[in-house]
Amino acid sequence: MTQLPALAIDALAIDAIAGFDGSIAVFLPADGKLDQGARRVNRLTRGALARFAESDAFGKLKPGESTELAWPAGLVASSILVVRLEAKPDTEALRKAGAALGKARGKKDVLALAGARKGLGDLLLGALLRSYAFKECRSGEAAEPEAGAIRVMVTNPEALEAQMNAVRAVAEGVYFTRDLVNLPANRLTTEDFANRLAALGDLGLEVEVLEEDRLAELGMGMLLGVGHGSESPSKVVVMRWNGGGKEAPLALVGKGVVFDTGGISIKPAAGMEDMTMDMGGAGVVAGVMKTLALRKAAANVVGLVGLVENMPDGRAQRPGDIVTSMKGDTVEVINTDAEGRLVLGDVMWYAQERFKPSGMVDLATLTGAIIVALGHDNAGVFSNDDAFANGFLAAAKAEGEGAWRMPIGPNYAELLKSEKADVKNVGTRWGGAVTAAEFLHRFVKDDTPWIHLDIAGVAQPAKPPAWAPKGASGWGVMALDRMIRDRFEG
Ligand code: BES
Ligand code: MN
Ligand code: ZN
Repeated sequence: MTQLPALAIDALAIDAIAGFDGSIAVFLPADGKLDQGARRVNRLTRGALARFAESDAFGKLKPGESTELAWPAGLVASSILVVRLEAKPDTEALRKAGAALGKARGKKDVLALAGARKGLGDLLLGALLRSYAFKECRSGEAAEPEAGAIRVMVTNPEALEAQMNAVRAVAEGVYFTRDLVNLPANRLTTEDFANRLAALGDLGLEVEVLEEDRLAELGMGMLLGVGHGSESPSKVVVMRWNGGGKEAPLALVGKGVVFDTGGISIKPAAGMEDMTMDMGGAGVVAGVMKTLALRKAAANVVGLVGLVENMPDGRAQRPGDIVTSMKGDTVEVINTDAEGRLVLGDVMWYAQERFKPSGMVDLATLTGAIIVALGHDNAGVFSNDDAFANGFLAAAKAEGEGAWRMPIGPNYAELLKSEKADVKNVGTRWGGAVTAAEFLHRFVKDDTPWIHLDIAGVAQPAKPPAWAPKGASGWGVMALDRMIRDRFEG
């Protein structure tokens, strides 16, 4: 499991600056005005900062961006990281500025002279999120985490420390999601995944693992059909956080296809290795549940994930097979590669039958079509409830996680009519992300406010956002945590 880097919050000790060994970060607003820490660095370097503040290079920096001044005379430090940051920066600039620290941290510490600045919780969240490095599959020294710590010197360490439990909780959740998504399928089988989730019990979550015999009793024919070709048993894991009162919970449902070969409708070889991240939805659900437990959220939330592997095999489900869902609808499986919706439909139905949730959000790396529509910067947001959807969109915006509303409607659902069964699992080529959402919609009860998040493009984006390294982003943990904080707590 990837650990957060060490983080130290201290009172501003001006005299420690000259001898600090590592990288020193200072924050400069557009007018180039130096704060107390920056003034000391400037004096020690005989005016290097003041000169930089007047340069074109500084003028070109956008809020949160930085430049490294290497090997400064007059300091033990190997570099000064000059970060442009206004007196009242927005969240995005703060997170970006923090990310610069996270990126600069290596073998040695990075020290931020933050003084009396506001919004340092967001800055440190950015630093923690950008510090993540996935080393679990390396060996020897390469598997060791970077030793450097993130240090900040501030005028009021207690006030900042008081915010840090919540900040660390979010970072831990995002790290958990990223680890799960980055792990390949031989190291994260359905069994391994369930074990990692069961371990969340230590944090006070109630975790239950439903095995295949139970899933068969429940009638989850759609989900079980997907896992038929795999040696790894299919599972549903239920994680409950009961931090609220008597109210019905919010349900989070995640697609956890640990590997998607496409099944008998097999995918082409090129790029198939990316399908190790096809459990991204389940990964986000797991990350959010971890965050809620760590910060002891005052809300009732139940997370459910369907863990399966989609493999071709003598026992694998065939195109044309007709399976029966837990809801009772029969489904003609035209394409075994449209498996995520089969898994989710059963888990969503189970979530509603058992928990009568006040709202339900499902997350899935569901379609390539959503990447065609929105690229890697926005997840697709589909919903039957405008107020619920708008609440999520506002939370995503505040957290800097791209999300864009997409349509649903009966004309799309029409495309799923089957000749032989109640419904088929694919429509035509066109509007593929929307017909997938309409397939899921069938498994949403009329009175359940529902959001479907298609995260195929954002779970492991080609170009990572400022707050993430390359690989799994952990998109959605922050937005969902904030939506829960804003709309389901207190
Ligand atoms: N897991 C894929 C979707 C996907 C594609 C996720 C690319 C991440 C990156 C999903 O199971 C799938 O194969 N969808 C098919 C659906 C089609 C057969 C209707 C697709 O998008 O091609
Ligand atoms: Mn597929
Ligand atoms: Zn898939």
